[in-house]
Amino acid sequence: MAEQARSIAAAWSPPDARPSWWLTAATFTAIAEDDELLDLAAAVPLDRLPPLVLSAAVKFHLDERGPARLAACYPRPGGVQPPPDEGFRPALRAFARSEAVALARLCREHRYQMNEVGRCLDVVPALAAVAAEDPRPLALVDLGTGAGLGLHLDRYHYTYRLPDGTESSAGDLGSPVQLSCIVRGGRRPPVPPRPPAVALRLGVDAEPLDLTDTTTARWLAACVPPEVDAVTRFAAAVEVARGHRAPSLRGDLVDMLPTVISELPPDVLLCLVDTYVHVFLPPERLTAFREAVAQIGQVRDVEWISVDPLVPLGSAATGTVQGLEVPPDWLRDNRDGGVFGVIGRVSIRNGVRRGAVLGRAHPGAAWLEWTAGP
Ligand SMILES: C[S@@+](CC[C@H](N)C(=O)[O-])C[C@H]1O[C@@H](n2cnc3c(N)ncnc32)[C@H](O)[C@@H]1O
Repeated sequence: MAEQARSIAAAWSPPDARPSWWLTAATFTAIAEDDELLDLAAAVPLDRLPPLVLSAAVKFHLDERGPARLAACYPRPGGVQPPPDEGFRPALRAFARSEAVALARLCREHRYQMNEVGRCLDVVPALAAVAAEDPRPLALVDLGTGAGLGLHLDRYHYTYRLPDGTESSAGDLGSPVQLSCIVRGGRRPPVPPRPPAVALRLGVDAEPLDLTDTTTARWLAACVPPEVDAVTRFAAAVEVARGHRAPSLRGDLVDMLPTVISELPPDVLLCLVDTYVHVFLPPERLTAFREAVAQIGQVRDVEWISVDPLVPLGSAATGTVQGLEVPPDWLRDNRDGGVFGVIGRVSIRNGVRRGAVLGRAHPGAAWLEWTAGP
C-alpha cells in the first residue's frame, strides 16, 4: 500500500512538476509515511486503490467538517493554488487521528472514481483526423464514461501551447470548460478550429454516475487531485454535463456492444472512445473486446480511439491495449517510471483493419506529444 502511495507521489513530483502539484504530492507522501494515514489506508483492500480512496475521503470529509487551517491548503474551482505550507502535513495527521472513524467509513462505502475531462485534449485531434477522412456524421460512444464528461467534448474550448511559443486552439471560446496543455516535441497535433461535430453521443459504464445526485457529485469532486486546474475544469465540466444530459447505458462495455450498435442509425460513423478504461480490463476481456470490434467491422465501419497506459499496467509493459506497435523509447520511458497514456487509433473500413499510435499524453492533461504524420 505504501508503495502505491509512493508511486503516486512520485508521479506528481517529477523534475518538471508544476508548483501547483505540491499538495497532491504531499498528500500521497503523507499517506505513504505517516502512521495515522497508513493505518486508515491499510484497512482498504489493495485493488480498491487505498491511497486514492483515502485522499478522496479526506477531501470529502474536510468539506463537511474540516478545520479551517487544513481546508485552507486546498484549492477551490476558479481560485488559485494555495502555496506550499509546512503546516499541511501535521494538520492532515491531526485530522486523520481525530476523524479516523468517519474516514474509515467513507473508505469502506465509496469507490475511487476518476473523471479527468482534460483527456478530451488527447481525443480531439484523433477525432479530428477521423472527421478529416470521413464525411459521415460521428456517433461518439464513450466506453467507461463514468460521469459522462467525455461525451461533451464538442462543447469545450481547447488550447495547445506549441514548442515554438505559438498556440493552436479549437472550440467554443465562451465555454465554461477551458482545457489547455503543453505540446511537447513531436509534431503539431491536427487541431481544427472547431472540434468535430458530434451527431449522436452515448456513454457506457459498469456504474454510470448521476451528477444530479449531490453526494455523488461531491464524492467525484473529492476524487479529483487537489490541483487548481484539475478542480476548476472538473467543476465546469460538471455544469456542462448537467445542462446537456447525454444518455449512458449501464453494463459491461464488451457485453453492451450489441445494444450500442442497435441504437445507431446506419449512416453514422461509429467512433468508440476509451480513456483510461481498457488498461484495467483483465486480459481475456481485452481480447474479447478486440474480437467484438473486429466482428462489428465486418458489418459496418468503425473507429476505436484509445488513450490508455501501456499494458500490462506497470513498468514491465510491452504493448498497447489496441495491440499497436510502440516506439521502443516509450517502453524504456515507461520502465524508467514515465507516466503517460498512449493515444491510438484503430479503423476498420470495408472489413479491413488498420491502426497506428498517434501520440502520448500526460494522464492529467499537462502535456501532449503528437507523433502521427498528417
Ligand atoms: C479510470 S475511470 C476513467 C473514466 C473516464 N473515461 C476518464 O478518463 O476520466 C474507468 C471507468 O471505466 C468504468 N469501467 C471499468 N471497467 C468497465 C467495464 N468492464 N465495463 C464498463 N465500464 C467499465 C469504471 O466504472 C469507470 O467509470
